Amino acid sequence: MSKKWLTLVALALVVTMVAVLAGCGGGSAPAKPATIKIGANFEMTGGQATFGQSSVNAVKLLFKQINAAGGINGKQLELVVADNKSEPAEAANAMTKLLTQDKVVAVVGPVTSSDVLAASPIAMDKKVAVVSNSATNPKVTVENGKVKEFVFRACFLDPFQGTVAANFATKSLKAKTAAVYVDMSSDYAKGLAQFFEEAFTKAGGKIVAKEAYQQKDTDFRAALTKIKAANPDVIFNPGYYQEVGMFVKQARELGITVPLLGGDGWDSPKVVEIAGAQALENTFFVNHYAADSKDPDTIKFVETYKKEYGQTPDALAALAWDAALMVVEAIKKAGPDDPVKIKDAIAQTKNLKGVTGVITLNANHDPVKSAVIIAMKNGKMVFQETVNP
Ligand code: PHE
Repeated sequence: MSKKWLTLVALALVVTMVAVLAGCGGGSAPAKPATIKIGANFEMTGGQATFGQSSVNAVKLLFKQINAAGGINGKQLELVVADNKSEPAEAANAMTKLLTQDKVVAVVGPVTSSDVLAASPIAMDKKVAVVSNSATNPKVTVENGKVKEFVFRACFLDPFQGTVAANFATKSLKAKTAAVYVDMSSDYAKGLAQFFEEAFTKAGGKIVAKEAYQQKDTDFRAALTKIKAANPDVIFNPGYYQEVGMFVKQARELGITVPLLGGDGWDSPKVVEIAGAQALENTFFVNHYAADSKDPDTIKFVETYKKEYGQTPDALAALAWDAALMVVEAIKKAGPDDPVKIKDAIAQTKNLKGVTGVITLNANHDPVKSAVIIAMKNGKMVFQETVNP
């Protein structure tokens, strides 16, 4: 090869290398987007699946909006969903996976108190914040007088919820006696039953029967027959929709016509599917928000959620939006890299306007919020009243 050719080849090589270098590390080419990974530990399948699914729907919607508006300081949010199958042991597994494999900087979820209680020791150990949208048992954030440093929630607590239910029973339903029917496999149901009993008794009422069941039970007739014999003015069942749906259906089949009352665990379209609209007449439950609220933020949320998913958001969706918002606001303040700083910023949550109310966390990592009473009418959830703390 001639000298001239060699020079040309060398020149061509240099030009190519410069071009390649400029393409990779150079300032002008767009860098691969770095994302902020946030975990979702939710009941996507199993006995509380509608809870987890609508929670994830809402968080996805929030992240979609934030990402479309440029993310947080130019970084896109990435949601990593882990299914806890509505089982406490699986909730712990899901948490381990999110924190060790996916290395998320914060976690939203789970829904139920038992699942959060099982999963949070792992978050404590790995020093990553977990914000439950909806777990209402007091032990979720404080146990043996000790606040759990990395555990937070976006909802009210069961001592309040139990009091709201008891006052509604005595004042609005004029009940003097009550029966309590409790899912003993749920920390939530056990706690809420106890708080209801205390408040109902304090208001002058009398508990005339108490029966127990377990999750996945399908036949409630024997207990209902005993409850019927005690002739209560109201039956309180603080369970989840799957068993509650069958309980309502079988109660009506046995000729029990008194009001049936429950807690937030009733909030699922499945209750209507399982029990039927007719059986659900004269039933009521306490909840976190009403989709027909007049609040402008709530109206906007309900509209966008409906447009995206073709259904009305339940309380889980609304609360998950707010829980994710707590994480987002914390990351805006603390930056996306240090989970401990993010935890500190979550603990400082103050006057955060969400779709379920204004959230200010107290020293126990709990917000103080209003509750609503929902009545079932023609298979639809109808807002009855708001109860302030
Ligand atoms: N409060 C329930 C629990 O702690 C979970 C839940 C909240 C379910 C809201 C439905 C609606 O287990």
